[in-house]
Amino acid sequence: MTDSLYERLGGEDAIAAVVDEFYDRVVADEQVADYFDDVDMQRQRAHQAQFISSVTGGPVEYTGAEMEAAHEGMGITPSDFRAIATHLDDALAEFDVDNDDREAVLEEIASYKSDIVTAAD
Ligand code: HEM
Repeated sequence: MTDSLYERLGGEDAIAAVVDEFYDRVVADEQVADYFDDVDMQRQRAHQAQFISSVTGGPVEYTGAEMEAAHEGMGITPSDFRAIATHLDDALAEFDVDNDDREAVLEEIASYKSDIVTAAD
């Protein structure tokens, strides 16, 4: 059997490390940092790691809100989405995830774009 994307990424611990790197980059980026001002980042990191694990085929239950409800009323623009997606791509690259697997993760994430983006640039 072929490995799932989750397994190729290295499983739960590797994904948690990528997510830590990802949010370090997000909160250092003034374009999007303010969105996270009042957010419990420990819970956020845990939920994001579960989310990425489950959408990449891991045996992990995502216990957070659905994407539309989680981002409702934030006025997230396409350019904000692009900034966040780029930080995820860069965090994956930092952990030596190859091009094809990075693209596959970003494709999974892009499928939620219309639930997350609610404002124009
Ligand atoms: C790139 C795709 C994205 C994914 C996969 C994603 C995923 C998630 C997940 C899993 C949660 C946790 C929900 C929960 O704890 O119930 C969340 C919450 C949140 N997301 Fe996103 N997100 C994305 C894009 C964005 C963007 C572009 C922004 C803003 C620039 C953003 C801002 C937030 C904020 C502020 C929260 C916290 C909500 C709260 O705790 O009240 N997200 N997101």
